[in-house]
Amino acid sequence: MHGQCKYLPYDASLSFFCDQNKKNHKLTLNFCTMIPIEDMFEDIIVKTMRGRGVTESELASRTGEPRDVLARLCRGEFCDEGALPKVARALNLDEEALTIAASKSWYPRMVTIEGLEIFNTPYRDMRVNAFLIWDPDSGEAACFDTGTDAGALTKRARQENLNVKQIFLTHTHNDHIADLNRLKSDLDNPEVFSNEAEPWPSTTLFKEGDAFSIGKLKVTTLTTSGHSPGGTTYYITGLQGPVAVVGDAIFAGSMGGGIVSFADAWENNLKKILSLPDETILCPGHGPMSSVGEEKKYNPFFANQFK
Ligand SMILES: [Fe+2]
Repeated sequence: MHGQCKYLPYDASLSFFCDQNKKNHKLTLNFCTMIPIEDMFEDIIVKTMRGRGVTESELASRTGEPRDVLARLCRGEFCDEGALPKVARALNLDEEALTIAASKSWYPRMVTIEGLEIFNTPYRDMRVNAFLIWDPDSGEAACFDTGTDAGALTKRARQENLNVKQIFLTHTHNDHIADLNRLKSDLDNPEVFSNEAEPWPSTTLFKEGDAFSIGKLKVTTLTTSGHSPGGTTYYITGLQGPVAVVGDAIFAGSMGGGIVSFADAWENNLKKILSLPDETILCPGHGPMSSVGEEKKYNPFFANQFK
């Protein structure tokens, strides 16, 4: 895995590039801050059961598996390889992708794109992402969410001498906007945008389909609700490849919980995010970055829709 490590997430306290050709590679490897996959296979099973309203006893009758085997799977014990495909089929998950998730044998390809950087900060027992995206030619920039500590993001913007004109919110759950006030004041009060379906005080509202510019970059808004009422995916073109900042709509190998509506969240992910070009880099609110092409293969929620 480390051998493919061309891009490393920018951590609040650490920023190192891992290059196997460099003499000090052993030293830098110690500081590789690979963001772990957000959801384990058991999270995927439990999230689906909750989202689709499937009880343990229904799952037992659909699979024909004893309840204790299912309970162990739900606790993350990969105890019975034969039971897992049955659970996948019973929950309309992709068998192969769920087995890969259980065997922890996939991690999304790491990529470097000039003008895109991730900032990963702690929140309770988890971590949350914010993104800085800029037009390398003009230096115009925008932030997407804040995370819990936007200090490293501000520092990076200053290092690159960027002119941050906008802060876009993917949704308004606290972990994603926790440092909004400080980020605004540190960056000379850029305009903040939120979806009219999930308005946040003192922000400019937009509706789905509204478009923005960051220098020569184009930003299109897609409402990918379900996890939250106005969850937004920002689709950005003009960098070396297309980028989608998706908030908690979809994760590498999973999706956000369907807090408002699991069915809407699932359908929006399928129709609005996984219909983007395969090479689109996905920037989720939790876990590592991924791509549309990889999610179509390895995301247990969706891989069976592309076979
Ligand atoms: Fe969220």
